[in-house]
Amino acid sequence: MKLENDPLAAFWMPFTANRAFKATPRQLVAAKDMHYTSSDGRKVLDGTAGLWAVNAGHCRAPIIEAIRKTAGELDYAPPFQLGHPLAFELASRVAALMPDSLDRIFFTNSGSESVDTALKIALAYQRARGEGTRTRLIGRERGYHGVGFGGISVGGIVNNRRQFGTLLAGVDHLPHTHDLAHNAFTKGRPGWGGHLADELERIIALHGAETIAAVIVEPMAGSTGVLVPPIGYLEKLRAICTRHGIVLIFDEVITAFGRIGGATAAGTLGVTPDIITMAKGLTNAAVPMGAVAVSRAIHDTVVEGGPDGIELFHGYTYSGHPLAAAAGIATLDLYKSEGIWDHAAALHGYWEAAVHSLRGKRHIIDIRNMGIVAAIELEAHPGGAGKRGMQLFHKCFDNGLLVRATGDIIALSPPLILEKAHIDEMIGRIAELVETID
Ligand SMILES: Cc1ncc(COP(=O)(O)O)c(C=O)c1O
Repeated sequence: MKLENDPLAAFWMPFTANRAFKATPRQLVAAKDMHYTSSDGRKVLDGTAGLWAVNAGHCRAPIIEAIRKTAGELDYAPPFQLGHPLAFELASRVAALMPDSLDRIFFTNSGSESVDTALKIALAYQRARGEGTRTRLIGRERGYHGVGFGGISVGGIVNNRRQFGTLLAGVDHLPHTHDLAHNAFTKGRPGWGGHLADELERIIALHGAETIAAVIVEPMAGSTGVLVPPIGYLEKLRAICTRHGIVLIFDEVITAFGRIGGATAAGTLGVTPDIITMAKGLTNAAVPMGAVAVSRAIHDTVVEGGPDGIELFHGYTYSGHPLAAAAGIATLDLYKSEGIWDHAAALHGYWEAAVHSLRGKRHIIDIRNMGIVAAIELEAHPGGAGKRGMQLFHKCFDNGLLVRATGDIIALSPPLILEKAHIDEMIGRIAELVETID
């Protein structure tokens, strides 16, 4: 194979406009605490915790040390029919953070794998309890559940679906909860929209409860542009699922590990699903890892109630990988020892006031916030949706601030070790730069 001279040619970048990127590449070469360093030597304030993931800040010494030490002691151990102590320790540590009885933990390597694992566990559970006709999966419009076939089937973002054929059969979708006419510029959770959960009753009436295995939603939809759950919405979903024997899955790949307050959105909001998916902040993104927390009832039905032998025919070569497990334990230690989630929670009010101070600036048609997350929605440019978002993303990056653009929505989710001065810098820079885009 003869390679071109272009050193950027070979890497087919994920979720990237490859041609545009390679024409004007922007690269990161180092990171520490709240900042990245770009390849042209500039410090860039991380307004997105990487990709909603580096909650404890970058290159934290205890996490690096744990990875280093483990890499020299146990580089890898197969997780099928064998174990190693770090995976058991991390599972116990994660279980202790989960609400109620969600204390059985399955390890994966990403959010996408966590979602597909959760969907498969829900199906296996329904079958194990004698409800094998329950095979339908219900997601939500605008939901993002990663990129596996299960995840894009229950997901509701058209661009992530349309290139890939017919996806899983037997999937339906709840309506999303985004409505600018009712909820624009709401601080925190909107009062309008709780009734949209009743749509689940309509879907159940259409298909029959006995055909539905599970409902999956993000308690706060992140990647689609930060859709904050209306007051009462999640509680209603919980009640309807319980009433009809449907497994409720919260996809907490973004919301877990302090992003909106406590260890999980479920715990913070006081609504307990049957399964929680996680990834990202579990290891502070230092080593890829995901996890699925499963209720004791579901676990026991599949594991204790099954015949002898393997109870669930599912798993990954890297489930509970030693380096990831070591990073996870060190990350959870760090969250605790530095009180990172409480530190961030004490800034929720300051954060909310700061992001909403952008109201009235050019192009801005909505601002939403929850925990240390915010979205700034721009009116689409008449020349094409997504243009303004991309322009502002580039302007911010070139001026020392990393934000995330999803279409014309700018999302912010900085590391949870942020201080007020970082918030001021982020909001000040956006206020100035949003006036300069057309
Ligand atoms: C809610 C949710 N689920 C799943 C995923 C997929 O995670 P990954 O990219 O690690 O596969 C993401 C990623 O942003 C997410 O936000």
